[in-house]
Amino acid sequence: MMSVLLQSKNISKHYGGIKAVQNVDMQVEKGEIYGIIGPNGAGKTSFFNVCTGNLQPNGGEIWFDGKKITGMRPAQIATLGMARTFQNIQLFNFMTVLENIKIGFHIHEKTNIFDAIVHNKRYKTDEKMNHEKGVALLEKLGLSEHAETLAGNLAYGVQRRVEIARALALDPKILLLDEPAAGMNPIETQNLSDFIKQLRNDGYTIIVIEHDMKFVMNLCDRILVLNFGQKICEGNPEHVKNDKLVNEAYFGKGTTF
Ligand SMILES: Nc1ncnc2c1ncn2[C@@H]1O[C@H](COP(=O)(O)OP(=O)(O)OP(=O)(O)O)[C@@H](O)[C@H]1O
Ligand SMILES: [Mg+2]
Repeated sequence: MMSVLLQSKNISKHYGGIKAVQNVDMQVEKGEIYGIIGPNGAGKTSFFNVCTGNLQPNGGEIWFDGKKITGMRPAQIATLGMARTFQNIQLFNFMTVLENIKIGFHIHEKTNIFDAIVHNKRYKTDEKMNHEKGVALLEKLGLSEHAETLAGNLAYGVQRRVEIARALALDPKILLLDEPAAGMNPIETQNLSDFIKQLRNDGYTIIVIEHDMKFVMNLCDRILVLNFGQKICEGNPEHVKNDKLVNEAYFGKGTTF
């Protein structure tokens, strides 16, 4: 049986006179890999940021796991089980990879500031648990060799994987990835695609914005196409590939993928 995990209802986002997102409806089912594509400036990131609470919409509602989340703060939405990565990587460059990952666990910690100051038993238990979980996550993403490297010193493609690892540290139900393959070489991109499929098999639901058309077409169950802030098409890769409006948006009239 299908059930909707994330839903946008009639979402609009304007910046002054710029209508970045216009009346977008979306329903993402549990266990789906759902792609969002569209030309530069189509509104993909703005729409994402509304879904995650990083931006407030000018109209419409977001529902996640049966709750209306519009108006909630990003951190609150994260605790409900939504994790994300950013188009512009947001790691702490002067912290090691492992330290960056451990920050991801922070949200589920029982430790408060008092515990941290006095380094009591609860703090030490949390710290030990986070360390072990962090090491395990790095292993899972093939990042172990970089554990003690400062994030800022890593190649772009590796930084993107570290960001995904940190998002997974939240133990989310849904993972939103904004251009995760940007800056990756073809082999890294293929590995990322395999990894995302593995995450789906592990029970995660994934939404991914991506420019790399081959990546999207081979990975996603369904795809939403935005153009000038509007949804112009939605469906499986085959459907999207053959859609007239999509081809016009990308290549001008008459061209196909
Ligand atoms: N903070 C902002 N202030 C003003 N305009 C913005 C802002 N952020 C985005 N825009 C504009 O809104 C529109 C949608 O931008 P957005 O970044 O959401 O598109 P995108 O599809 O993610 O593009 P890209 O593929 O380049 O990442 C664009 O016209 C952009 O210039
Ligand atoms: Mg974007």
